[in-house]
Amino acid sequence: MLGIMTTPSSDPPPLRAAVCGYGALGHVHADGLAATPGILPVAVCDLRPEQFQPRDAEFNLKAGERRFDVRSVATYTDWRTMLREARLDLLVVALPTDLHAEVSIAALEAGVHVLCEKPMAIDAVQAARMADAAERTGRRLMIGQCLRFWPQYEALKGLIDARTHGALRALRLERVGSYAQWSAGDWMNDHRRSGGAILDLHLHDVDWVGHVLGRPRAVFAAGQTGRSGGIDDVTAVFDYGSCQVTVVGSWMYGGFRMSFEAVFEQATVAWSGGAMTVRRPGVAEAEEIRVEQGSAYQRELAYLCDCIRTGSEPLRCLPRDTVQTVRMVELERRSIAERAWITL
Ligand SMILES: NC(=O)c1ccc[n+]([C@@H]2O[C@H](COP(=O)([O-])OP(=O)(O)OC[C@H]3O[C@@H](n4cnc5c(N)ncnc54)[C@H](O)[C@@H]3O)[C@@H](O)[C@H]2O)c1
Repeated sequence: MLGIMTTPSSDPPPLRAAVCGYGALGHVHADGLAATPGILPVAVCDLRPEQFQPRDAEFNLKAGERRFDVRSVATYTDWRTMLREARLDLLVVALPTDLHAEVSIAALEAGVHVLCEKPMAIDAVQAARMADAAERTGRRLMIGQCLRFWPQYEALKGLIDARTHGALRALRLERVGSYAQWSAGDWMNDHRRSGGAILDLHLHDVDWVGHVLGRPRAVFAAGQTGRSGGIDDVTAVFDYGSCQVTVVGSWMYGGFRMSFEAVFEQATVAWSGGAMTVRRPGVAEAEEIRVEQGSAYQRELAYLCDCIRTGSEPLRCLPRDTVQTVRMVELERRSIAERAWITL
């Protein structure tokens, strides 16, 4: 009798993954899941079933090639049903910020690893509960602080750590844009759901500064209340003793811009979307710094997937660190309200 020979494979089964919140970032992450080896997208969930219509969304995020086809997975309008039925290993939470804690904690308690979009939660108390849930359940939780995986910011961190151009003396970071026009039910422009620009947008740079330089000695911030009802334009200064950091964030500008300028003892390194450059005193021409290519969203996903596979902690972006980021934004709000430096 003829038998069918099968070759035993040493590859572990793929991680069964889903996206919860299939809006702007949900689309980006669904593509990331489909493009990451070792991950099998099996489901998406969104409250609004019209989101499941295949479409070519136009978002201002360069997230790499689109590969995900929503028709190839199960679709749910209720995340609790998805958690019960879809047999998930990994959930990507791309919901409005006020839902991050509830859904992430429920997923962790159901035994599912979680990649949750930034900001970790609407406040530090909820963020700390998420970190507790990850510790209690032994599941991996990582917040999508994509700047930690953004090639230019990674390259700058390398220069700071290695003191390639001497010690860092000053750092200026900027992230400005206009009010979101795409968010479901306009949740983004309601500070009770998004935290306003200070939490939603400016937090990116606050997190990166904490990641690279640790906790400052003191923080001062000035800000303007905007259309969201929260702080939608902010300038923050972090005092690190031998170096000060200025971070500007706003939803009050026309057009999106993000940039950094790092002043070292022997050179200035800058980036504003094009080439990353280094300028040395007395040298007229700026030199280009070559950086790796690739989508930060896919890199963070691949990193977390690797941590899950190897059973290691996501050291590049630990939950306790991202709780501190939300706390730092809360200290900035206090500084704005009190018009005073806050010493840490
Ligand atoms: N990392 C980044 O660069 C970046 C950029 C933009 C947004 N974000 C973050 O991503 C998250 C999502 O933002 P977005 O811009 O994609 O918003 P969005 O409004 O485009 O998408 C959110 C989706 O969640 C769905 N939703 C709402 N409540 C739900 C529920 N109870 N169950 C299931 N689905 C529900 C909405 O219908 C919508 O489709 C936010 O936390 C935001 O801060 C991150």
